[in-house]
Amino acid sequence: KEIRSTVQGRVAVVTGAGAGLGRAYALLLAERGAKVVVNDLGGARDGGGKSSQAADKVVQEIRSKNGTAVADYNSVEDGHKIVETAVSAFGRIDILINNAGILRDKSFARISDQDWDLVHAVHLRGAFKTTQAAWPHFKKQGYGRIVMTASNSGLLGNFGQANYSAAKMGLVGLSNTLAIEGAKGNIHCNVIVPTAASRLTEDILPPEFFAELKPELIAPVVAWLCHEDNTDNGAIIESAAGWAGKSYIVTSQGSVLRKRIGDAVSIEDVRDRWTDVTDMSTAKYRESIQEASGELLNVLEAVRDGPKEDEISKTFQITD
Ligand code: NAI
Repeated sequence: KEIRSTVQGRVAVVTGAGAGLGRAYALLLAERGAKVVVNDLGGARDGGGKSSQAADKVVQEIRSKNGTAVADYNSVEDGHKIVETAVSAFGRIDILINNAGILRDKSFARISDQDWDLVHAVHLRGAFKTTQAAWPHFKKQGYGRIVMTASNSGLLGNFGQANYSAAKMGLVGLSNTLAIEGAKGNIHCNVIVPTAASRLTEDILPPEFFAELKPELIAPVVAWLCHEDNTDNGAIIESAAGWAGKSYIVTSQGSVLRKRIGDAVSIEDVRDRWTDVTDMSTAKYRESIQEASGELLNVLEAVRDGPKEDEISKTFQITD
C-alpha cells in the first residue's frame, strides 16, 4: 500500500544534492511533493573548486517533472546561508539531509593538516553549521527531521581513510545527542550509512557490483527516515543495493575486577578477568547514558559488601 504522500508540502534541504546520493534524495522527495533546496558547491571530489552547474542541473531535472526546487551553491560550512535559502524561497524548513562530502584519502602517516581539516570542515563542521541554523526553525514549529550521513569507514574503519572515518563517527555522536535534545520538540535525528555507486566510490567499489549499487535504491530509505510517521530517533540505518538494516553499538556484560569496595585493581586482576571482560556472547545494547550509569551503580552495589561466596561471581550479571 502506498503511504500517504511521504513528504507532501514539506520543505527539504539536501546538501551535496548536485550528484550521487544527494541528487537521488532530492529527486525522490520532490517527486513525492516536497519543496526541495538543492544545495551543492559543485566542487571536485577532494573539495577543490566550485560551480553552480551541479545544483542547477538537478533543479532543472526536478522542474522538468513538475516538481518544486531551488538551487543553493553555498558550502555547508556556511550552513546558515543554505537554511536562509530555504526560508526565503519556501518560508520554512522541515527536513535536513546532511549529505555533502569529500574525500582526501591517504594512509595515516601521510595525512596533512589540510587533508584532516578539510574533510572535517565539510562532513562534521558542515553538518554542525547547517543543522544548528535549522534547529531554531525546527524548535519553533515543533517539527524537524534530520539525517546525518556516516559510513562503514567510520563504523568499521577503512585503510587510507583515517580523516574521513573520524569525521564520519563524529557525525554518529552528533546525531546521538541531537536525538536526545530534539526528542521533546518532535525533532528526530538519524544516521544513514550508505554504500552506493558515485564519483566517491568509482575507484573503490568492485566494478561488478557498481551497477547494482544505485543511489536510487537508498533514497526511499532516507525518505522514510524523513517521514513524519517514522518514530525512529537516534538510529543508525545502513542501506545498499536494495537492502537496509540497523546498527547498534553493543557492550559486553563485562566482569567486576575487584572483590570489595576500597580494593585496588591490579594489572593481574585485569588479565585474569580479561576473557570475561571481552566476552561478547551476551553483549547488549544500552538505550541511554542513564542506563549505562545505572549499571555502574549495580557494580558498586555488588562490591560494597564484598564477595557473597568464596569468590566473586565470575561474570557479573548487569541485568537486574
Ligand atoms: P558525490 O561526490 O557524488 O556527492 C557529494 C556531493 O557533495 C558533490 O556533488 C559535491 O559537490 C558536494 N559537496 C562537496 N563539498 C561540499 C560543500 N562543502 N558544500 C556543499 N556541497 C558539497 O558523493 P556520494 O557518494 O553521493 O556521497 C554522499 C555522501 O554519502 C557523502 O557524505 C559521503 O561521504 C557519504 N557516503 C557515501 C558512500 C558511497 O558508497 N557512495 C559510502 C559512505 C558514505
